[in-house]
Amino acid sequence: MKRLFSGIQPTGAVHVGNYLGAILNWRELQSEYDAVFCIVDLHAITINYDVATLQDRIERMAATLLACGLDAPDRCTLFVQSHVPAHTELAWYLNTVTPLAELQRMTQFKSKSQQHEKNINAGLLTYPCLQAADILLYKGEVVPVGEDQVQHIELSRIIARKWNNRFSPLFPEPAERVSYGKRIKGLDGQAKMSKSLDNYLDVLEEPAGIWEKLRPAFTDPARLRRSDPGTPEICNIHALHTYFSSPEEIGRVEEGCRSAGLGCFDCKRILADNMAAHFAPVRARSAELLADRSALREILRKGAQRAQEMAAATMVEVRKAMGLA
Ligand code: AMP
Ligand code: TRP
Repeated sequence: MKRLFSGIQPTGAVHVGNYLGAILNWRELQSEYDAVFCIVDLHAITINYDVATLQDRIERMAATLLACGLDAPDRCTLFVQSHVPAHTELAWYLNTVTPLAELQRMTQFKSKSQQHEKNINAGLLTYPCLQAADILLYKGEVVPVGEDQVQHIELSRIIARKWNNRFSPLFPEPAERVSYGKRIKGLDGQAKMSKSLDNYLDVLEEPAGIWEKLRPAFTDPARLRRSDPGTPEICNIHALHTYFSSPEEIGRVEEGCRSAGLGCFDCKRILADNMAAHFAPVRARSAELLADRSALREILRKGAQRAQEMAAATMVEVRKAMGLA
């Protein structure tokens, strides 16, 4: 089985963009691949963060991922990045073959430098070296991510190639795999959905909260009416319907919008109900998992143990190839 690797930051909430852009795909692919999923706490500390709540956010992220259908430890490996110290060791080695100019041209580095102008630290710049280390440590070949991460995976390939050419052909060049929902827009209908822009919907949101957030969300019925029937992604609410509503409902909503027979308020109401129903089992399951923290920690411990075994084997080869052992 080919190895698959992906990661997510323990930001506290899984939003609908993460869910549609990454996690749904992870759930699908976990039976096709030897799938390894990582909660990347070491990436999360490159911006200012709350030390006191980090452990809780890591555990909440684990519970949400499991509740979304990642079946660890049976069908996939789920672990916390800092539990396997080899990530930072390999990241250092990869630093030494990564061209500075490649790091400086990363769009995420540029946007995070703008967002956090008082904390432009070296970790923000070398972030993609740690990300490459995550993947290469497990010789990951397939990396399911949203569109915003494609540039980092391209750089991971460059880094793998440079290391292989310099030392030994050890690492496969990883390929990104983007899903149909690779770029979900936020509730502002403009920027991509993200926590930092506060335009997101948490998958654990209560039904009343879903409606509260959707009700004022941006719509574009005029643009939808001007478009050809069946054109995707015209109005953001329509786009979200395509993920959460039945084909009949999508047809009814589109027809109703075109004929002005269905107003935006009612259109959103249908979407809110469908999203609430879709995520109800996720909410219930994650509450169950969070009620037994020691069982949750045990799943993460098992994941780290398996990851550690794989990582140790790679590191023996890496150190030898680099003349460090
Ligand atoms: P992050 O929360 O930045 O760690 O992202 C975790 C995963 O979700 C990555 O694969 C991202 O590419 C993906 N992702 C984040 N935001 C979006 C979005 N708005 N649309 C689609 N995918 C996204
Ligand atoms: N940088 C990714 C993000 O912000 C998370 C991540 C870290 C990742 N390491 C990874 C994704 C390795 C894929 C593979 O979304």
